[in-house]
Amino acid sequence: MTVEELIIYGKKFLHSIEVKILLARVLECDPLNLINILNEKVEENKANLFKDLIKARLDNKPLQYILGTTNFYGLELIVNKNVLIPRFETEELVENTKKIIETKFKDIQKIKILDLCCGSGAIGLALKNLFPEIDVTISDISRSALEVAKQNSDSLNLKVKIIESDLFENIKEKYNVIISNPPYIKVGEEIEDIVKNNEPAVALYAGEDGLYYYRKILENIRNYLEDNFLIAFEIGYKQKEEILKIIKENLKNINIIAKKDLSDKDRMIFITNI
Ligand SMILES: C[S@@+](CC[C@H](N)C(=O)[O-])C[C@H]1O[C@@H](n2cnc3c(N)ncnc32)[C@H](O)[C@@H]1O
Repeated sequence: MTVEELIIYGKKFLHSIEVKILLARVLECDPLNLINILNEKVEENKANLFKDLIKARLDNKPLQYILGTTNFYGLELIVNKNVLIPRFETEELVENTKKIIETKFKDIQKIKILDLCCGSGAIGLALKNLFPEIDVTISDISRSALEVAKQNSDSLNLKVKIIESDLFENIKEKYNVIISNPPYIKVGEEIEDIVKNNEPAVALYAGEDGLYYYRKILENIRNYLEDNFLIAFEIGYKQKEEILKIIKENLKNINIIAKKDLSDKDRMIFITNI
C-alpha cells in the first residue's frame, strides 16, 4: 500500500491527526513530511505495524507496548508488558537526583548507586548515562522485567550490575545513592483502565494503603547506605505526609527535601545526611 492509501485506511478509524502521527512514527519521519511522500510504497511489515497501532488505539492498549520502545531521558528504551512504561514524572526524579548528586557529593566518580525496583532499568540506566564513571546497580523482584532491563543495558551499551532481589534480600553491598520508584497504588484505588488492564500488577500495587514498599525499604535501608548518602523516592502525590512520618520513624540526623512535579503535585522526596 502507499502512504496515501494507509492514511485513507487509518481515517476510517481515527482522527486524521492521530493517523498521521502513528504513520509518521512507523515510517520514522515528521508527520508534516507525509504530504511529500503520498505516492511512496510502504513495506508490508511497516504497513502491518501501522494497522496494529490503530488496533491498539481502538483496544485502549499503550502504544509503547505495540511499538516496543519508549523514550526516557533521551534514551530509547525497550518496553513490553513485563515492565511499567517509564513516566515523565520519573524523568523529573532523575533530573532532580542528578542536581543533588552534583551538589552534595565531592568525589562523584567514587559513589555507588542502587536503583531499587528498577523495572525496565529506566532510572539506573539514565543515571549511568549521565555519570558514566559511577558504579550503578539495578534490581527488581521480577525476572521478566530484569530481562528487559538487561536488553536495555546491552542495546544502550550502559554497563550496570543487575540483581534479582525481593527488595534488599540479595543486596550485599552499601551505596551512596539509593533511588526508587516502587509500586505505590492502594489495592482497590481507581486508576485508568489503560494502566490497570495492561501494565504489570507487580509494578503498581502496594498494599491497602499504598505505602507497603516505602515502609519496607525505610525499615531496612540503613544497612545498605554508605556514610554519606542520598535516598531518592518517587511518591504518589497524596502520600507525602505519611511517607515523611515513616522516614522520621526510621532515620535520624537527616535532611529531607520534598519536591513537586511540573504539574505541581507532591512527587519526590530526597533524604540526605550531607
Ligand atoms: C512502579 S514500577 C517502577 C519501574 C521503574 N523503576 C520505572 O520507574 O519505570 C515498580 C517496580 O517494582 C518492582 N517490584 C515490585 N515488588 C518488588 C519487590 N518486592 N522487590 C523488588 N522489586 C519489586 C516491580 O517489578 C516493578 O518493576
